[in-house]
Amino acid sequence: MKTYDVCIVGGGSTFTLGFLKSFVRLRDEFPLRRLVLFDIDGERQEPIGKYGEILFKERFPELDFSYTTDVEEAYKGMDFVFMQMRAGGLPMREKDEKIPLSMGKIGQETCGAGGMAYGLRSCVDMVKAVHDIRTYAPMAWILNYSNPAAIVAECLRREFPDDKRILNICDQPENVVRSASRLLGCDWEDLDPVYFGLNHYGWFTHMYDVHTGEDLLPKIKRLTAERGFLPQDAEQRDQSWLDTYGMVQTIMADFPDYLPNTYDQYYLYPDYKAAHLDPNYTRANEVMDGREKRVFAECSEVIAAGKLGDKFHAISDAHAEMMIKVAEAIAYNKNDRHIIIVENNGAIANLQDDAMVEVVCELGINGPRPMRVGNIPQFYYGLLAQQVSSEKLLVDAYYEHSYQKALMALTLNRLVNDAKKARQILDALIEANKGMWPELK
Ligand code: NAD
Ligand code: G6P
Ligand code: MN
Repeated sequence: MKTYDVCIVGGGSTFTLGFLKSFVRLRDEFPLRRLVLFDIDGERQEPIGKYGEILFKERFPELDFSYTTDVEEAYKGMDFVFMQMRAGGLPMREKDEKIPLSMGKIGQETCGAGGMAYGLRSCVDMVKAVHDIRTYAPMAWILNYSNPAAIVAECLRREFPDDKRILNICDQPENVVRSASRLLGCDWEDLDPVYFGLNHYGWFTHMYDVHTGEDLLPKIKRLTAERGFLPQDAEQRDQSWLDTYGMVQTIMADFPDYLPNTYDQYYLYPDYKAAHLDPNYTRANEVMDGREKRVFAECSEVIAAGKLGDKFHAISDAHAEMMIKVAEAIAYNKNDRHIIIVENNGAIANLQDDAMVEVVCELGINGPRPMRVGNIPQFYYGLLAQQVSSEKLLVDAYYEHSYQKALMALTLNRLVNDAKKARQILDALIEANKGMWPELK
């Protein structure tokens, strides 16, 4: 049986432990030969690397595992590169969220002005990283989920137009499917969704029962109205995520056509959300006080004990598992269905061809084959065409170092929507991102 060499870029990420455990759990489905963690911050990565050494010694001793800050060591000979970098780290996420909020606009990791600030930083770092990968691993499949995936995808489309082995993927559509399965009381893999949108801005038009073919969307609508909407793993979630999923009930009451992606809340209720986010304690603070502390505390405990103890949980990590299954689909030419960000080219018939859209794809050894959804109704078209324009202008700003294009991008974003506000926020973001953004003139 063929075995695979995988590198994870952003080895120091709070999501890496989930991957290390999932690679052990899924070793029969996706057999690894070698796993290398890469990070530009060796100190942050080290405890996770040491945890990995202990985990694999106990659970997967034949795996060749290492961690490094050297690009050649990281990328050479790789079959798959998983990318989960956070350009600027969590402290910059905090600024992305707090600067717009201090000016009355939503501050969010990937949406609105904050997402655009993160987008420009990610363009800089992702372009460099993908060139490095291609120097040492010209044929590796690059599975990117570094955010903001919509902007990164648009930038990589332009930078590497002929490279068919770069995929951008997000777990949120699958998370919504999983949530629907909790509501319906079925297995999430028994649901066959039809979905369209941009990354973090989409809708499910149908949710078929794979066994009977029945469209369960009317039932999901009724149950959501009666009981609300929860993440599948609600018991492990922070309050802010429960609030986010809870908004699905509101969205479906106002726009009952489809089941929304949870991120739609920001675009549909920008004033309400801006008024209800705490400008002094945002999601970045919650992550730094919560997940980040928990992950590094788990590492310290295991490293001090020199053994895993009870730290290997049987519960699955949905995010890591999804990304590994994407690699599996390619490796084994499975042609199973995944929701992936691809160049439109008619998948959404009335949206421009060169938009990066998120739709259901069959995925196999030659990459994703998108499933068409036809024309989308005027309301959804209007929302998406505006956001595509905003994201494209931002990537123009990156390539042209253009202040004007960045101003247009922010003005066109529904979460900003006002040129004077856009200028004020942009000026503050330029200050905060010195050295991490291209210099806008
Ligand atoms: P984190 O800050 O804990 O981890 C990111 C790691 O990336 C850090 O160790 C950092 O040193 C490293 N890094 C930063 N710049 C780098 C570079 N240029 N090259 C290599 N490594 C670099 O952040 P996190 O909360 O764990 O999130 C990691 C990333 O994964 C973020 O981009 C996040 O948005 C993304 N993510 C995406 C999805 C999705 O579905 N699309 C889901 C989960 C996480
Ligand atoms: C979901 C989204 C990711 C996003 C993450 C943020 O998984 O799909 O794109 O990065 O949530 O989660 P956090 O817990 O860091 O706020
Ligand atoms: Mn996402």
